[in-house]
Amino acid sequence: MKKIRLAFVGSGFNGQIGFIQNFHKNKNCEIAGLAEARPKLLEKVSKKFGIKNKYSSHKGIIHNINKFDGVVIVTKRNMLPAIAYDFLKLGKPVLTEKPMASSLLQAKKLIQVSNQNRTLYKVGYNKTYDEGVQKAKSIFKKILKKKILGKIVFIRSHRLSGSGYDSENIYIKTNEKNLLNKPEWKAKPNWLPKKFERTYAKFLNLYCHNINLFKYFTNIKPKIIFSDLSDTRMSTVILDYGNFRASLETGFFTKNGWDETFEIFFEHGHIKIILPPQHKKNKGSTVLVYENSKNKFTKRYTFKSWSFKRQSDAFINDIKTKSVKQNNAKAAVEDIEIIESIWKRFIKKNVN
Ligand SMILES: NC(=O)c1ccc[n+]([C@@H]2O[C@H](COP(=O)([O-])OP(=O)(O)OC[C@H]3O[C@@H](n4cnc5c(N)ncnc54)[C@H](O)[C@@H]3O)[C@@H](O)[C@H]2O)c1
Repeated sequence: MKKIRLAFVGSGFNGQIGFIQNFHKNKNCEIAGLAEARPKLLEKVSKKFGIKNKYSSHKGIIHNINKFDGVVIVTKRNMLPAIAYDFLKLGKPVLTEKPMASSLLQAKKLIQVSNQNRTLYKVGYNKTYDEGVQKAKSIFKKILKKKILGKIVFIRSHRLSGSGYDSENIYIKTNEKNLLNKPEWKAKPNWLPKKFERTYAKFLNLYCHNINLFKYFTNIKPKIIFSDLSDTRMSTVILDYGNFRASLETGFFTKNGWDETFEIFFEHGHIKIILPPQHKKNKGSTVLVYENSKNKFTKRYTFKSWSFKRQSDAFINDIKTKSVKQNNAKAAVEDIEIIESIWKRFIKKNVN
């Protein structure tokens, strides 16, 4: 069978760790092109992964787009939507890292151009490719369908990030400075005061995963009823889903360890997902089911697969089947909208 020929834009830390090494392992795909602005890095990464077509800019791929069946874009967040926009015009499938954009306006602009050109467009919410998260979803659906633990009463997403990096997961580094900043789109919505730009960008980058997880399970767009955001303290957001509420608790206090859980509470028990640091190879979430009547966890599942690898395999499958099965960019627009609502709520209540 003919291999899918992929082109990559960006082979920095996450481009190599989360994407290039995983696509390289997929037998149905060939990494046929790489655009990397740092020349030594371009040479070294291309040599390691046997990449034949090398370009110093994403424009090189654009000019040669007919050589490729799809494009993966993993660049800094301010540049990612601007580069994605140029590729979405070309009609070849596109996978970008999350967040897809820095504002709702930008996200809508990207969807408009992908619709006009019927471009398959996927966003890299790798956590929903975690085998444990997917197992939890099938348990969740069964619990609701068979009314095993009653109704949902509360959902809690908790992330105290430490270091998500894995010293055993190595990548090529050079002494070249990472200075390129063009093309770029603004890193904040127009309405956000400049002084919040950094905190907003950080919140959007880290916790769009959590917002996306809420939707992965509930498929409901929430209202934001409380929002207390900070760069130095714990942030808390309360979301209203009509019949139940949810909390998002986030912070960044240590350079070691990782403390992330996603819990769904029902009338008679709960599901708890313990998520691993995302760059840890061969480690999926642990899933626990607690039954109140038995006063204990009655089920426990662990997984040795890696969300980033499973996400890469899924994109190759999407290209082959010409349809984005999960994490279609059209649905990801709502995540940006919710994050803007969280910030609007915070600013309305706290800033004169
Ligand atoms: N899913 C996750 O959990 C997760 C974790 C970490 C980072 N990320 C995301 O990954 C993305 C990239 O992060 P990173 O740390 O790898 O960034 P990085 O800056 O280390 O790498 C980007 C690379 O792209 C190159 N580049 C940029 N624009 C280019 C262009 N136009 N043409 C050619 N080369 C170009 C740069 O030279 C650089 O080497 C960010 O969007 C970040 O949000 C996601």
